[in-house]
Parts: sequence; C-alpha cells; structure tokens
Amino acid sequence: MNFDLRESEFEERFASFLEQSQPEIVEKWLLGAKISQEDPYYEEIIKNGKRTVELISRYIRLQDESWIMTLTKKIANERIEANVNIGEFIANINFGRSVVISVLNESSFDRDELSKGLQIINNYFNAYSYHSVTEYTKVKDNIIHDKNKFIQEMHSDRLTILGQLGASFAHEFRNPLTSIKGFLKLLEDDSDANNSIEKHYFEILNSEMKSLEEKVSQFLFLSKMRGSDDRPLSLNLSGLLRYTIEILYPRLLESNIEVETAITPDIPLFGVEEQIKQVILNIMINSIEELNENKIDHRKIELRAKENHGRITIEISNNGRQISSHLVESIFQPFISTKKLGTGLGLSVCKQIIEKHEGVISVRSNPEQTTFVIELPVMVDKGVKEE
Ligand SMILES: Nc1ncnc2c1ncn2[C@@H]1O[C@H](COP(=O)(O)OP(=O)(O)OP(=O)(O)O)[C@@H](O)[C@H]1O
Ligand SMILES: [Mg+2]
Repeated sequence: MNFDLRESEFEERFASFLEQSQPEIVEKWLLGAKISQEDPYYEEIIKNGKRTVELISRYIRLQDESWIMTLTKKIANERIEANVNIGEFIANINFGRSVVISVLNESSFDRDELSKGLQIINNYFNAYSYHSVTEYTKVKDNIIHDKNKFIQEMHSDRLTILGQLGASFAHEFRNPLTSIKGFLKLLEDDSDANNSIEKHYFEILNSEMKSLEEKVSQFLFLSKMRGSDDRPLSLNLSGLLRYTIEILYPRLLESNIEVETAITPDIPLFGVEEQIKQVILNIMINSIEELNENKIDHRKIELRAKENHGRITIEISNNGRQISSHLVESIFQPFISTKKLGTGLGLSVCKQIIEKHEGVISVRSNPEQTTFVIELPVMVDKGVKEE
C-alpha cells in the first residue's frame, strides 16, 4: 500500500514536471527536427509537438493509449499531405524521444525515479511510433490502391474507345476491301500467267490484301462485333496449322528463318477457324519480328502440336532474345508493346480467343528460347463460349 502510494506520488510529480518542461522540450525539438519552413502544416507541427508532450502526462496519469492514436492519426495524415517520406517522419519521432530523455536527465529526480521515468517515456514513444507508422502506411496503401483503380479504369476506358473505333473502322473498311479483292481477282485472271514480274506483283498485292483483312478482323474481334465467319465448327487443326505456315512462307524466306514442325496429323478441334488462325498468325508474326531484331546466324521457329486424352497442346518457340520477367507478367494485357509501331493488341487478342475456346495460353522464356504454349480442349462443352 505504502509502495503504491509512493508510486503514484512519483507519477504525479513526473507528469507535472513534463507539463512544466513542455515549452523547453518543444523548443529543443523544433531546433533539431527535420522540418521544412515551407511545410504547409508548419503551425500544426508546433501544436502537435505541444500536444505530444501533454499526452505523455496524460499517459502517465491514466495509462491510456487511445489519445495517442487520435493524435498520431492526425499527424500521419498531415505528413502524407505534406509529402514527407516515412524515414524523415520516424526520425522526427525518435528525435522527440531523445529530447524528452535529455530534459529528464537534467532534472532533480533521483536515480530510481530517473530509471522509472525513462521506462515510461520509452513505452510511450514505442506506442507513439507504432501508431504513427501503422496509420501512415494504411493511408499510403489506400492511396496506392486508389491510384491502381484509377489506372485500371483508364485502361478499360481506352479499351471501350478502341472497341468503338474498331467497330466503325472495320465497318468502313470491310466493304471497299471486298470489292478491291474482287477486282484484283478479275485482273489477276486476265493477266499474262507467263509474265513473271506481273505474277510477282500480284503475289505482293494478294499478300498485302490478306494482311489488311487480318487487321480488320483483329479490330472486329476487339470491338466484340460478330462476323458471319465466327461460328465454331469441327476443324482439322493440323491442316489449319500447316496452312498458316504456308501463308507466312514469303516472310519466313525473306527473313531467312528455318521452320521446324512436329504436328500430329488430323488433330480435331471444335472452334472458330478464323480466330484460331489469327492466334497462330499473331504468335508467328511476333516470332518473326523478334528474330528480325536479332543478329543470330541460325534463326529458327519450331511449331509443335499434339493431342493427348482430349487436350491439345500447341507450342511455338523461337530462338530470339529472352523476354524480361516483368514483361512476361504483363505480356497478354492490351497495349503492352516494345515496338515502335506495335499496338500491343496481338497477344491480348490471342488470350481472349483462347479463353473463349476454354483454353489457356502462357509463355516461358529463357536465354536460348521463347515458347508460347496453347492448351485447348478438343471439344468445348457447349460450343465456343458466347459473349
Ligand atoms: N516471341 C517473342 N519474343 C520476344 N518478345 C515478344 C515475343 N512475342 C511478343 N513479344 C513482346 O510482347 C509485346 C506484345 O506483343 P503483342 O503481339 O501483343 O504486341 P506487338 O507485337 O507489340 O504489337 P501488335 O501485335 O499489335 O502489332 C511485344 O511488343 C514484344 O515486346
Ligand atoms: Mg504482335
């Protein structure tokens, strides 16, 4: 009983001592703390300093942490608004602790009392730092979360705009393209089959027409407009893969790329022919573009396809440069491109198409080889997923 009395008597003396020393503590702290004169909360900082010392006395008398939390919440929010980094913020709290301790050391308390006082100060500042940092990181996390949300919304806005643009572009382009293609065919039929220069020009014209048509289909796909040729049918995937390589033959030759295939014959697939073709083309074209950037002597693309227990695996590899790990993570998202004229839509269209076919697309890359892997079911349960 006697001891308790002495204890509370000391606590009262200690709390009053701190109240009296408050101006000295705040002054010393302001002299040494890292605070910019331009800080928008400069006046508040002085008030917060005074309040911090007042709360030590309250903490001593009532052993109550809740008031500390109210103050640290206010301070953490102000520090974030003032754009002060967490290192500086913590340094100022720690400096506050050492100022209080130095004032205590100069007081007339005896050794026992000093050691008790020191313990109280340390407990108080430990709680103070803990609540400040917790609040500071919580507010920062919320800001980051809101920013990410904003970026995602911007992203999907851009996608919607692109969808609308795609829809109108595709509409405007499709009809003239069809008539140009028709007249081109008429001209080609009338041309001199023995004239090798004419034949070469028609080859170029036809291949460019094809590429234009593919671009239009890509936009059409993104704009979610359904064309007449997007009904799923039973397909021979092996034949489709061989045909796709044939289309690319001139480009492969021009770039001096060897293509090695290992395709199991007659793999069945229930899917949309134009869309599957588009996926293979996009990946193959990316591989060609990569190998064209690459100075290696022996440029090579490997295409493997097999079926096992109703699951189809298609792998397309090239021996170009390794794709960095951060790009691997985002490569299937729209607008991700490292090319000067790339739209960054190719792989995002591939992902959408493969997922519509209830399949999965992935990539792995090492210094020797980059491989895109597509896994598909032979039969999709209810046909290709409707939008
Ligand atoms: N085989 C590959 N090797 C190395 N990098 C690749 C390969 N395929 C894709 N990439 C990287 O992924 C990015 C995204 O590819 P994606 O096909 O989506 O867009 P793009 O080729 O840049 O443009 P677009 O296809 O719209 O013309 C590319 O810019 C490239 O950096
Ligand atoms: Mg591409």
